[in-house]
Amino acid sequence: MASVFDQLQKKISDKDAHIGVVGLGYVGLPLAVEFGNAGYRVTGIDLDKKKIQGIRAGRSYVQDVPSAEVADLVKRKRFTAQSDYRGCDRFDAILICVPTPLRKTKDPDISYIVASVDAIAPQLRKGQLIVLESTTYPGTTEEVLKPRLTQSALVPGKDIFIAFSPERVDPGNTTYTTKNTPKVVGGTTKRCTAVAVNLYGQAIETVHAVSSTQVAEMIKLLENTFRAVNIGMVNEIVLMCEKLGVDAWEVIDGAATKPFGFMRFYPGPGIGGHCIPLDPHYLSWKLKTLNYSARFIELASEINGQMPHVVVRRAADLLNDKKKSVKGSKVFVLGVTYKRDTGDVRESPSLDVIRLLEERGAKISYHDPYVPQLQIEDGRGYRRSALTDKNLAASDLVLIVTDHTEYDYDAIVRASPVVLDTRNATKLVRRGRSKIHKL
Ligand SMILES: NC(=O)c1ccc[n+]([C@@H]2O[C@H](COP(=O)([O-])OP(=O)(O)OC[C@H]3O[C@@H](n4cnc5c(N)ncnc54)[C@H](O)[C@@H]3O)[C@@H](O)[C@H]2O)c1
Repeated sequence: MASVFDQLQKKISDKDAHIGVVGLGYVGLPLAVEFGNAGYRVTGIDLDKKKIQGIRAGRSYVQDVPSAEVADLVKRKRFTAQSDYRGCDRFDAILICVPTPLRKTKDPDISYIVASVDAIAPQLRKGQLIVLESTTYPGTTEEVLKPRLTQSALVPGKDIFIAFSPERVDPGNTTYTTKNTPKVVGGTTKRCTAVAVNLYGQAIETVHAVSSTQVAEMIKLLENTFRAVNIGMVNEIVLMCEKLGVDAWEVIDGAATKPFGFMRFYPGPGIGGHCIPLDPHYLSWKLKTLNYSARFIELASEINGQMPHVVVRRAADLLNDKKKSVKGSKVFVLGVTYKRDTGDVRESPSLDVIRLLEERGAKISYHDPYVPQLQIEDGRGYRRSALTDKNLAASDLVLIVTDHTEYDYDAIVRASPVVLDTRNATKLVRRGRSKIHKL
């Protein structure tokens, strides 16, 4: 009789495995669709009933996933979705992609992971693979998942298989998608790694196995810390260049002509999204419990966190040059998402910039092609204004916070009285350069 391991491996290789994806957000939905496209039966679980209704109706709510793909998979009964955890025992593999936010104190909030694992654990049976994909601190899989998943004496590597495989989704990136972005996998045992490598290898082009779940967890945090620290460094270059009276953007462009030993990072109004501002704090928090201070992370966070204040100070200086105070001035914010060409406003620096300007009495309006309504806090927010010459001309300051590619920057500069460009989006604009002020 074949072992549990061999049976599961065969099911996966034969595309006979039924896959459950828990958390159908920016990470889970593309992943579910990728496995559906690879020929598996996929069931998504999400507590958000609107998302479930959307999927059942063949609608995608994630920009990088075309509705046509969801509709096709749903029609062919390859993809279904449910808003509860009933029937988890029918899945051969369960991939957990729930959120991992930070608490106000910057401590990790792994309550979504715990809730999800606690719902799955009582239904576990022999021959299942459970993979955590949510970004978290090193040790979570061994310390939080494993004890809960092995309560009923199921032995990892023999009866059940547990692994960590960090998600690397880059929303809006059309070159690197879920399918062609290499996937790192680390299991609780060698057999756990082997099962997870086999599964991901069926849907994703390259899979990189590592020796443990902790290594896989740490890889994700290195990647995101690398970005946070380098963005912090380049933001500090902006502050230094301001003191020196040198154009930071020209300096960065010049340095980027070096074909080796330099990697370009872009300064800006601050960092946003679900990953870069949050994930390094997972590492820093873990290190604090080991009596170690993660200095680069703290410093980068401090500098990046200052950038919205720098933007507001620069805006105030520009208004001052026009003999205007921030109080009562009309500031038209262009782009509110955390990065260009996405609809995601989570942790967006625009929210801080707007709040700070509001505190100083500015009258805010905004435009973003992807965001019809902007929630600031406590249910308070704005409706998008039209991007017209009239609205631009009626503002005291036009503030480019996000450099969406669909904007016509020539037209924006032409119609605006003064532009503060925090992303160097107006780089190619030739006419009216005296109106443009860079960060
Ligand atoms: N968005 C990214 O670009 C990105 C990239 C890499 C890694 N990640 C990581 O992936 C994880 C998921 O991120 P996301 O951006 O997809 O988040 P998301 O908020 O878009 O999606 C998470 C989904 O989980 C659902 N959910 C919450 N609690 C649940 C529960 N107990 N059971 C079932 N569903 C539940 C939510 O309704 C939501 O739809 C996070 O750990 C994040 O750090 C995100």
